[in-house]
Amino acid sequence: MLGKSTCLAFLMICLHPLLLCSAASGPSQLGAGSALSVEEHARPFLVSPDATFSCGFLEAGENAFSFSVWYTGAADKTAVWTANPGAPVNGRGSRITFRRDGGLALADANGTAVWESKTSGEGLAVSLLDSGNLVISDPSGTAVWQSFDWPTDTLVPSQPLTKETTLVAGYFSLYYDNDNVLRLRYDGPDTSSIYWPSPDYNVFGNGRTSYNSSRIGVLDDDGVFLSSDNLAARASDLGPSVKRRLTIEQDGNVRIHSLNATTGGWTVTWAAMAQPCSVHGACGQNAICEYQPGLRCSCLPGYEMVDRKDWRRGCRPMFSVTNCSQGQAPPEGRFKFVKVAQTDFYGYDLGYNSSVTFEHCEKLCLEMCSCSAFSYRLTGTGVCYPKGTLFNGYTSPNFPGSIYIKLPIDFDASAQPVAAHSSQGLACNPDGPEIIQGSPDTFRRPRNNVKWSYLFAFATVLGVVDVIFIATSWWFLSSKQSIPSSLEAGYRMVTGQFRRFTYRELKDATGNFKEEIGRGGSGVVYRGVLDGGKVVAVKKLTNVAGGDEEFWAEVTVIGRINHINLVRIWGFCSQGKHKLLVYEYVENESLDRHLFDMNRTALPWRERYRIALGTARGLAYLHHECLEWVIHCDVKPENILLTREFDAKIADFGLAKLSKRDGVGDSFQLSHMRGTTGYMAPEWARNVPVDAKVDVYSYGIALLEIVIGSRISDQTTAGGERLEMSQIAQALRQVVDTGDVVPLVDGRLQGQLNPRQALEMVRISLSCMQERSNDRPTMDDIAKVLTACDDEDEHPAYRS
Ligand SMILES: *[C@@H]1O[C@H](CO)[C@@H](O)[C@H](O)[C@H]1NC(C)=O
Ligand SMILES: *[C@@H]1O[C@H](CO)[C@@H](O)[C@H](O)[C@H]1NC(C)=O
Ligand SMILES: *[C@@H]1O[C@H](CO)[C@@H](O)[C@H](O)[C@H]1NC(C)=O
Ligand SMILES: *[C@@H]1O[C@H](CO)[C@@H](O)[C@H](O)[C@H]1NC(C)=O
Ligand SMILES: *[C@@H]1O[C@H](CO)[C@@H](O)[C@H](O)[C@H]1NC(C)=O
Repeated sequence: MLGKSTCLAFLMICLHPLLLCSAASGPSQLGAGSALSVEEHARPFLVSPDATFSCGFLEAGENAFSFSVWYTGAADKTAVWTANPGAPVNGRGSRITFRRDGGLALADANGTAVWESKTSGEGLAVSLLDSGNLVISDPSGTAVWQSFDWPTDTLVPSQPLTKETTLVAGYFSLYYDNDNVLRLRYDGPDTSSIYWPSPDYNVFGNGRTSYNSSRIGVLDDDGVFLSSDNLAARASDLGPSVKRRLTIEQDGNVRIHSLNATTGGWTVTWAAMAQPCSVHGACGQNAICEYQPGLRCSCLPGYEMVDRKDWRRGCRPMFSVTNCSQGQAPPEGRFKFVKVAQTDFYGYDLGYNSSVTFEHCEKLCLEMCSCSAFSYRLTGTGVCYPKGTLFNGYTSPNFPGSIYIKLPIDFDASAQPVAAHSSQGLACNPDGPEIIQGSPDTFRRPRNNVKWSYLFAFATVLGVVDVIFIATSWWFLSSKQSIPSSLEAGYRMVTGQFRRFTYRELKDATGNFKEEIGRGGSGVVYRGVLDGGKVVAVKKLTNVAGGDEEFWAEVTVIGRINHINLVRIWGFCSQGKHKLLVYEYVENESLDRHLFDMNRTALPWRERYRIALGTARGLAYLHHECLEWVIHCDVKPENILLTREFDAKIADFGLAKLSKRDGVGDSFQLSHMRGTTGYMAPEWARNVPVDAKVDVYSYGIALLEIVIGSRISDQTTAGGERLEMSQIAQALRQVVDTGDVVPLVDGRLQGQLNPRQALEMVRISLSCMQERSNDRPTMDDIAKVLTACDDEDEHPAYRS
């Protein structure tokens, strides 16, 4: 009779996935003549010597199996290699055989070979190595075939991606392009385009290089994926002894996953794109992608989903489309345009004209039979893009233009509101889409006169020539004079002059750090003039963590951040203890001097609103759209710089990443608080990991200061006592309830203000001050509401 303890020991061995017992064990090497039938799929074909990897049949659907390799410890047995991706074999009668002739073959139930290693020879053996490589080797030990040469959608550590290999998932692929750059491409049924690295920048603007032709990328045991084009992707749980994989996934993103050895679950520790809408083809044709957060697809007005279950198939028109192949222009007056704000479609421009009126742009689209919409924005002059195919649609509060959809004049699109939603109780202009009739006298010009980002102004220009850029970037780089003149400005702009400076250069530029123009927690700022005469602000950093390489990596991330409401960074210097950053020089000082200095003339209302909106957009960009999400951690009027036109530019972002940080991990924890009393969210004091909502809190305080024109921390009662935040919130709630906002606004404006905007600002401010960070809105929400309220009269005045 078996003893009780033997039984228990047996059970425990079987329960532990890494220990080998009859159900989970397998040989690590097999000779010719071995086979495994699919009915025995509970048993692995091979297990690597240290049991890290297993190989055998994996369920790939109902009664469907694949022959794959997986991490033995992964609860979900995610395949890291598959012999027959997309072509599963029958769950009955299928078989993997290592034949006498030395070939490994997967046969379906009816005997058809679904996959073969195409090897042959005497004395071959098949083995699964501890690296996860499935190898067929000859008696001398030389590999004649290995699975590492035939990756499917995943790389495991030490498995290289080379010029011969590609990772594929559905319509998406990760591969080395002809110019040596590692890219992601969407190759759908109708269109094909590259979406990573960002097509809005050239190779160098993306921090890559096309000079190294080795074309190799490897994930190492510490969780760093190094590619020969300069890409260095670091898993957030850097360090050895974690099992990881790098996978291109069905949503078109590439991620590093780390295995939790205790639970057998996977955690994402790096992703190529923070913004899922930048994946091309995510929502299909005639649809718009929006991230809020979480990806949302919606059809354009006048369009409906092709397949209710699959957004990738996009939307089709609900009206009859003119057949353009007959070569005739449609008669005018049969169309109208429906505006979809802050939206653009990438590529497929039928033309481009940078200085036309809205009416002219509209006429262009009416006259072109194949024009299905046009994009228009004012960047000083009107920029007009008539569009044919509508693909890669993307809505974002930071996007500087609108798209106007061409619809038959009798089509009722107002019945179907687009993207007209509000969140967290914030709403300013909940109207449906603005309808513009297609007859000349009812044309209305958009009243939006915001100065948009240069980046965006050129983004679409680059879109048109995307293909040329990629195919000829070598040639472009070696002969700058050959750039077409229409592109030159854009090219220069996006190339950026982000570079490394020597300490000597910056010492000379600043006249040995003579003229101090600012001072803050992270260092002292000096005015400088570079060789070409460009005026810059040079910041000497104190308290920088990490070595040279780490600093370089972090600064390159900041260097790629480019938005009109963020101070542009031109370069850096890292020489021993000298760590400096070189910024664009912003002429008009910081917001605090204009708001709180009683000797100055008061900032007019329109400028205040523009600054509030610009700051919200800049922060929304940092939080939601950056290549890597960035928390500012020190939002306050001192860090909001103003241009000559009083446009806001946020300074000092990205520095939280540079300062000394505790440990590693995906939660963000600083070893010392960054931030300024009076602007700091309550969670700072609780010493818990913080997120982007700390910036939302600080923004709320700054926003209120813009309205009232003095420091919140200086507010007192009639008796001279300092007001608590709770008392301030109480007062604001009363203002919001009664709508009587004017008494709260800076008295120096003498009633010259837009009360609707002021009330909205107070309402936003109040929601930002919520104690619980989850109750606060996101910067995206705020930017949307402020943008909606921006469509106001040019010269608002309050009349009592
Ligand atoms: C075997 O089955 C597969 C799918 O089940 C089928 O595509 C193939 O044509 C069949 N081959 C033969 C020879 O019957
Ligand atoms: C090219 O890339 C490879 C792999 O990353 C690296 O080992 C090599 O040093 C690089 N060559 C140059 C010239 O940078
Ligand atoms: C693994 O998962 C457990 C349970 O969710 C968690 O407590 C632990 O921190 C995780 N380990 C790692 C390294 O993430
Ligand atoms: C469009 O017109 C062309 C030429 O007249 C014709 O061959 C084609 O079938 C038409 N397409 C549709 C969708 O009607
Ligand atoms: C742009 O529009 C102007 C004014 O209508 C016109 O003269 C010019 O030729 C157009 N340019 C292009 C490139 O279409």
